Amino acid sequence: MGAFVIKGGKPLSGTVSVSSSKNAILPIISACLLTTEECVLKQIPGLDDVSGMCELVSNLGANVEVNGRARKISISTPQLTGHTADYELVSKLRASFLVLGSLLARKGVAKVALPGGCPIGSRPVDLHLKGFEAMGAEITTGHGYVEARCPDGKLKGANIYLDFPSVGATENLLIGAVLAEGRTIIENAASEPEIVDLASMLTKMGARISGAGTDTIVIEGVEKVHGVEHTIMPDRIEAGTIMTAAALTGGDVTLTNVVPEHLKPVTAKLRESGVEVIEGVSEICVKSSGRPTAVDIKTHPFPGFPTDMQAQFSAYLCFAEGTSMIVETIFENRFMHVNELKRMGAQIRLDGRTAIIEGSEKLQGAQVRATDLRAGAALVIAGLAANGVTEVLDIHHIDRGYEFIENKFQRLGADIRRVQ
Ligand code: EPZ
Repeated sequence: MGAFVIKGGKPLSGTVSVSSSKNAILPIISACLLTTEECVLKQIPGLDDVSGMCELVSNLGANVEVNGRARKISISTPQLTGHTADYELVSKLRASFLVLGSLLARKGVAKVALPGGCPIGSRPVDLHLKGFEAMGAEITTGHGYVEARCPDGKLKGANIYLDFPSVGATENLLIGAVLAEGRTIIENAASEPEIVDLASMLTKMGARISGAGTDTIVIEGVEKVHGVEHTIMPDRIEAGTIMTAAALTGGDVTLTNVVPEHLKPVTAKLRESGVEVIEGVSEICVKSSGRPTAVDIKTHPFPGFPTDMQAQFSAYLCFAEGTSMIVETIFENRFMHVNELKRMGAQIRLDGRTAIIEGSEKLQGAQVRATDLRAGAALVIAGLAANGVTEVLDIHHIDRGYEFIENKFQRLGADIRRVQ
């Protein structure tokens, strides 16, 4: 298990290019199964989760060629040789559950392991299953698997209302609806930018979709879709993570390959805490001269403050002047970073889904452990600003969603190194 060793106190400065989005590419890889033709995906980040998703679709019959140097992946599936996503893979990579939609659309049958929970919550998939049942799939769950079958081999268009604007359920059902018979309307859909990116690729493949990025998505089913070339959108959470680190260390950092529109809630909160944020067309500059002032955060589905930035911002506010209140409304257990931050001297009180943070001038470096992807990122941010040396253990969690994050921070002047 690797670790990051960080010597805190160095302001970040310079320019960094943000990698492409993990949460955009994972459903996009599943969507490539919808066609027999070649799909070429560009600007691919080198992430463990991407490799896992590629392994899954190749187990299902896809020919996957990864060109690491050109950062391109080619996926073509002349025929699906299987329709089972087994527990071994799904339990490690929840996004594997997103092949349910493409398997039902392409083959009318699927057997996918239930993803189970993860550190941040129970992560049910009831909304996915309810949606596919509305589209005519007969679904049974047993022995840890979901088995789904369309009586006449195809999904049927349906009106679906999501009890919660679930990102994954919206993506799964959107993918399934592309080849369904008739019209599907997904109401109370998630409107995250990653869904817009998925819909833009599907549209280029010949799908007929309107309303992606709003709470109502309409899909007119088509007979088939064709191959495509698609460049993955920038990762708004990686960008927000770097922006927060720059702000906390009193830095002056320009991020390129970003979509400022995707970062509005993070930009607003950084500005509210006293940081200068200048938005360009595809870049953002963060300038900070010192200690942030306390702000309150409440996570919400897009365009609210993203839950995937909550841990990172909690770390940031541990150094703020004043008291901050953080409310995590999306996941039931997304404060795993709090105990680790307290080992660095942070003053945080938890009450259910609320964290009250008394800001301190400084935290002390310590040995801490990453429990999940974003908690790990939060500990790196805290280590970059703490007094002394911080060692972040179990950084495989971080590698799942951040491409060589230590190299990015090193290039901005941070004293951070990876050790085995
Ligand atoms: C996606 O997860 C992201 N993952 C998560 O990012 C992100 O935190 C989350 O969306 C919310 O933005 C990927 O895109 C691969 P949800 P997903 O379905 O789709 C409940 C990261 O750090 N729910 O929107 O699983 C669920 O329990 C990861 O990059 C149901 O109740 O999120 C949760 O409370 C972590 N029933 C809430 O909805 C369902 O059928 C949000 O879940 C589905 C979800």
